[in-house]
Amino acid sequence: MCGIVGYIGYKQAYPVVIKGLKRLEYRGYDSSGVALLNDNKLNVYKKKGRVSELEELMIGKDVSATVGIGHTRWATHGEPSDRNAHPHQSASGRLAMIHNGIIENYAPIKQELLKKGYEFKSETDTEVLLNFIEDIQINNQCSLEEALRIALKRITGAYCILLLDKEDPETIIAARKGSPLVIGIGKGEHFLASDASPFIEYTKEVVYVNDYELAIVKPEELVLKNLGNEKITPFVQELDMELAAIEKGGYDHFMLKEIFEQPSTIFDCLRGRLDAAAGTITMSGIEENIIQLVNAQRILIVACGTSWHAGLVAEYIIEELCRIPVEVEYASEFRYRNPIINPGDVIIAISQSGETADTLVALEKAKENGAFIFGVVNAVGSSIARISHAGAYTHAGPEIGVASTKAFTGQLAVLMMMALKIAKAKATISDERYLMLLSELASVPEKIELILSRSEEMSAIAEKYLDASDFLFLGRGYNFPVALEGALKLKEISYIHAEGYPAAEMKHGPIALVDSSLPVVFIATNDVYHEKIISNMQEIKARKGQIISIITDGDDVTPSLSDDYFSIPAIDEVIAPILSVVPLQLLSYYVGTMKGIDVDKPRNLAKSVTVE
Ligand code: M6R
Repeated sequence: MCGIVGYIGYKQAYPVVIKGLKRLEYRGYDSSGVALLNDNKLNVYKKKGRVSELEELMIGKDVSATVGIGHTRWATHGEPSDRNAHPHQSASGRLAMIHNGIIENYAPIKQELLKKGYEFKSETDTEVLLNFIEDIQINNQCSLEEALRIALKRITGAYCILLLDKEDPETIIAARKGSPLVIGIGKGEHFLASDASPFIEYTKEVVYVNDYELAIVKPEELVLKNLGNEKITPFVQELDMELAAIEKGGYDHFMLKEIFEQPSTIFDCLRGRLDAAAGTITMSGIEENIIQLVNAQRILIVACGTSWHAGLVAEYIIEELCRIPVEVEYASEFRYRNPIINPGDVIIAISQSGETADTLVALEKAKENGAFIFGVVNAVGSSIARISHAGAYTHAGPEIGVASTKAFTGQLAVLMMMALKIAKAKATISDERYLMLLSELASVPEKIELILSRSEEMSAIAEKYLDASDFLFLGRGYNFPVALEGALKLKEISYIHAEGYPAAEMKHGPIALVDSSLPVVFIATNDVYHEKIISNMQEIKARKGQIISIITDGDDVTPSLSDDYFSIPAIDEVIAPILSVVPLQLLSYYVGTMKGIDVDKPRNLAKSVTVE
């Protein structure tokens, strides 16, 4: 949700910043802008629309500068427009600032400033904060750094800000609370960004800035301080990310690339952990906390969106295999409803980005109440990974398409291994079933490969249903969360209304929607519910609904009830969601692209939701 990037050093800043903005565009794309500082000349350029539109605006402009900041926006305060785009400039024109987050108490501060005669060019909370900082500096006759510290103590909300002062062209000042900031360390240069993608070809040495920290960044020097003005020693880490991971690599869209990467991302997730032949799962985060996990009285899973769907699958698996009660919570509800957290509870946080504001705050609150937090996170070094007591990375690599695909299947793989490992330690699973599920899990990369090799079949199905205005997705048991995920994917990237439902629940309401114009997608793979879901299909058929089914290879009953079907390799029902979701990802991808939608950047969405 908003991407920020900054450069200070000996290179020309503009090419670094604009390339960085393109890589961060997945975080927000309704407007973008740059501020370039050359000696004491501060130039700000901004434009509604995609970064490519900003680039066009920049043709012929003076871009020479070795200091620059840039922003790509996902609107919160004020509509997407040139004037609401960042960077903003202070009333005097001396300061320029970009901001990712929300200043919740901006209204009273704005009133205070209006009374003092300040005028605002935009509707943003960011411009209010910037003028507030300038006003404090003028009134207190203090340094900009000190003024920023005073301002940050007065505001509530979330921020990652980068600040330029044209009277100090050798410095970028940054601060964060609740929105991510990583600093890349080069020789005689520094890079600042929401994630490391803008600078991975320049340096692998990074410092993740923590909440309530300020960074005073010069070409040769990085000083970190807390809000009490005490210096903090930067913790420099080595980045494990390659440039190829954030490029399209010949695919038309990141989403398609990420769908097709799943055999290798699942393989990477299992590698070094699952050894089906030896019958072992090695996960240090679990082993080091096995007593806590085995004795858990209850597991609470906290997540949003697709990650929440992974949590629902985990609920079914953990309850069945480990016999531990599980509750799956939307982080946005959990954080506000004063939940009961008992000493024996374990919280599993699931997040691709590791920066989702609702999940992060929910965990902070749970942690304050003494909960043990286990993070299942994709983005290495992210905030959720860092506040968790223990965890397991999904190792899916950077996910850039807004619609989550490979991160979801990676989450499922980690959660399945977790459940198997806890079940084994608790002795709630027989040796035979344990070994069988291990070998089923190990077969997933190869089976996804088989599904993807037939992607054209799904493309043909998609073409038939392009004009539908609604879709229903139905599944039972382990495939119910997959139905929810299929519906979410379709909504996100094709703008077709879709609902996911437990198949049996359909007759308690949604069946009223069924007529000959409604496509109903059944996730009807072979499991204990198979006969029951066939009855549900009959109910739809009797009302002339159009049926698209996802079935298991060799099923010769379901095709006769279906207008279209796609079959997947046979697999145990516990592991089935990792496979059955893949055709649904393809369905939504093809429908979205055939409708001409930019599936990597669908309207109104952002990849990383860092505001509540
Ligand atoms: O980064 P997270 O996994 O915490 O993100 C949670 C949701 O915002 C995310 O899954 C969202 O629903 C995706 N756009 C789904 O495709």
